[in-house]
Amino acid sequence: QTGLVTLDNGFGNTAAYKSAITFVDGDNGILRYRGYPIEQLAAQGGFIETAYLLINGELPNADQLAEFNREITQHTLLHEDVKRFFQGFPRDAHPMAMLSSVVGALSTFYPESHNPFDAAQRHLSTVRLLAKLPTIAAYAYKKAMGQPFVYPRNDLSYVENFLRMTFAVPAEDYELNPVVVNALDKLLILHADHEQNCSTSTVRLVGSSHANLFASISAGISALWGPLHGGANQAVLEMLESIQKDGGDVDAFITKVKNKEAGVKLMGFGHRVYKAFDPRAAQVKLLAHEVLGQLGKSDELLEIALKLEEHALKDDFFISRKLYPNVDFYTGLIYRAMGFPTSMFTVLFALGRLPGWIAHWHEMINDPTSRIGRPRQIYTGTAIRDYVELDQR
Ligand code: SDX
Repeated sequence: QTGLVTLDNGFGNTAAYKSAITFVDGDNGILRYRGYPIEQLAAQGGFIETAYLLINGELPNADQLAEFNREITQHTLLHEDVKRFFQGFPRDAHPMAMLSSVVGALSTFYPESHNPFDAAQRHLSTVRLLAKLPTIAAYAYKKAMGQPFVYPRNDLSYVENFLRMTFAVPAEDYELNPVVVNALDKLLILHADHEQNCSTSTVRLVGSSHANLFASISAGISALWGPLHGGANQAVLEMLESIQKDGGDVDAFITKVKNKEAGVKLMGFGHRVYKAFDPRAAQVKLLAHEVLGQLGKSDELLEIALKLEEHALKDDFFISRKLYPNVDFYTGLIYRAMGFPTSMFTVLFALGRLPGWIAHWHEMINDPTSRIGRPRQIYTGTAIRDYVELDQR
């Protein structure tokens, strides 16, 4: 099939997409965006630069980066009518529900964006989404807090703007903390793409019907919400808090996991592709120690997480199943230290993953051989039979 190749995984062929965006080697813990190792991008790059790389295929030069930042900055405001959507949500609405609803609704403000084959409109939708998702995310937080929305400012960087729109309140000045700004920029880079994961494949499948970019990204946000995928970072914190409530008894929890009590899993562990280690997990673990140290925050939950990891890495139940920490295991501890509630953790994952979703959508739409996604099935239902009248049943 065009756009799909069959890879023999030893258990019969598995159809797979062809893509030039991200390379993952699950056995050796390798992750590269457009050929650049994630470790170098996280250490030396910036999130908007990484977004440009994923979407355009090359690192931007100084002029290209300045222009990309300028374009994004010009589009950070939301139409005033969009704010009314937030008034309709219940106070305790989950921010991921608000994110996917408002992103889908954005397409109603830009009917000209509905034609995926208009290159200028594709670029404008790309810039609008990158610019407005942080504003939507911050407004979702303000809705939950019952605080007034804070408008974006054009003199701030992407991450600075998001942090100020989220945490600033009219009653006092908001002071940006460079430790938080730098750490969040790095975390967004680490989440920016991961080849054909559940949410990215969702974006590609929805986009393959030639639905517009806003509709495709809204679907990707919904897929990411699941606790087995992006929702895991929230589930990890809830798991650590439940262990803390049980007096920090890590061994008792590990026993529950091994006995598969009520489907209890070690959240933040395991991966469909990484069967050695997730290179992002190592980066995030280092960052957790750095940020918590620089913010002067000791966190009992970090101690519990370290004990869980130490125990699991020695236990045959996890080793035999090739279960190692994934990107979600430590991220929540950093987000919590930054002041985010657990309900916002997956929203932060979405902010990071947005350029990857967009890059894959473009790659598919620009592929002249790409066709509508249509998975086939093996029918396991009843064989043919004749209708039975009601009084015969
Ligand atoms: C992300 O695909 C991507 O790239 C995703 C992602 C990205 O960047 O987009 O990397 C982001 O989603 C990371 C994963 C976050 N999810 C979690 O941390 C949730 C906990 N993890 C699991 O639910 C699970 O490991 C998955 C969903 C991540 C992977 O599932 P698989 O590969 O389908 O593994 P499986 O369900 O077939 O499990 C194999 C065995 C089973 O036991 P047995 O039936 O052999 O006895 O391992 C067990 C599972 O029960 N198992 C776990 C476990 N994960 C798998 N047991 C306990 N704890 C776990 N975390």
